[in-house]
Amino acid sequence: MSMAYPDTRLRRLRRSAALRDLVRETELTPGRLIAPLFVASQEAPVESMPGVSRLTIGGAVAAAGRLADLGVPGVLLFGIPDHKDAEGSGAWDDDGTVQLAVAAIKAAHPQTLVITDVCLCEYTDHGHCGVLRSDGSVDNDASLELLARTALSHARAGADVIAPSDMMDGRVGAIRAELDSEGFSELPILAYAAKFASAFYGPFREAADSAPAFGDRRSYQMDPANVREALRETELDIAEGADIVMVKPALPYLDVIAAVRAMTRLPVAAYNVSGEYAMVKAAAAAGAFDERAIVLETLTSIRRAGADMIITYHAEEAARWLAT
Ligand code: PBG
Repeated sequence: MSMAYPDTRLRRLRRSAALRDLVRETELTPGRLIAPLFVASQEAPVESMPGVSRLTIGGAVAAAGRLADLGVPGVLLFGIPDHKDAEGSGAWDDDGTVQLAVAAIKAAHPQTLVITDVCLCEYTDHGHCGVLRSDGSVDNDASLELLARTALSHARAGADVIAPSDMMDGRVGAIRAELDSEGFSELPILAYAAKFASAFYGPFREAADSAPAFGDRRSYQMDPANVREALRETELDIAEGADIVMVKPALPYLDVIAAVRAMTRLPVAAYNVSGEYAMVKAAAAAGAFDERAIVLETLTSIRRAGADMIITYHAEEAARWLAT
């Protein structure tokens, strides 16, 4: 008997839903999803992301409750401040929107994991992720202290996980040291380790009002062409104390997710970003495909590539679909 057809027939294990369920290699459950939430002083829909709105703190608390009821364990908070300045000082304001939202969500839903994005771009008037030198370049080392201050302010507000997304060299170590020296040695860091300078962030920048006023982010975010460098970024973040490493975006970077998964024993996160969401919504609205099937297939593929958890704007819908 040979291992080939007709002795071997792979269709045997595809004959019924029960058999297919038994041999499925990758599971997608709401427990692996994290929902990003934009928190602002005024509620407003995000035009380029149908179904996504900037929420007030009350709206974010309600969303966290709905997500918890659906089995989605965590939210990733972004704040949109009313005031911006050159340093991004709103980022570490203890009474800032994110800080107040963290406290409100934890008070209403103590079980919800509240993860906070640490970056300056929503808070700087120039929209870059760090502070600028007089020539307009981003000053890496001067930004570290401000990022660490921001992370500490999130920790004091009650955040469960700190997620730096700025891509400055050394920020994971700077944040780890600051948290440890202030009594937060048990707070994990989810590092945006391999974050690419991607056009897929377009809709996010409308949502968070964080587009750079000049230039682009290519001097700090990664070149989309590089996978070995993604592994170096990840190694460095691990060496600096990251507890979870992230690849971002997700779908156009499945090979990077797989490479990071193969390289480390740490949990791996993937960020299914705003442009990925907007593409699916636009194509579904045009009748190109069934949104439910596309979203579940996409999220499954990100899990299959090696992501333990997925940050996705589809979290609430996907969790509803998975429940039925
Ligand atoms: C902040 C940040 C960005 C995203 C997450 N954190 C934007 C950027 O780097 O320009 C993008 C998320 C998305 O597109 O969904 N630095």
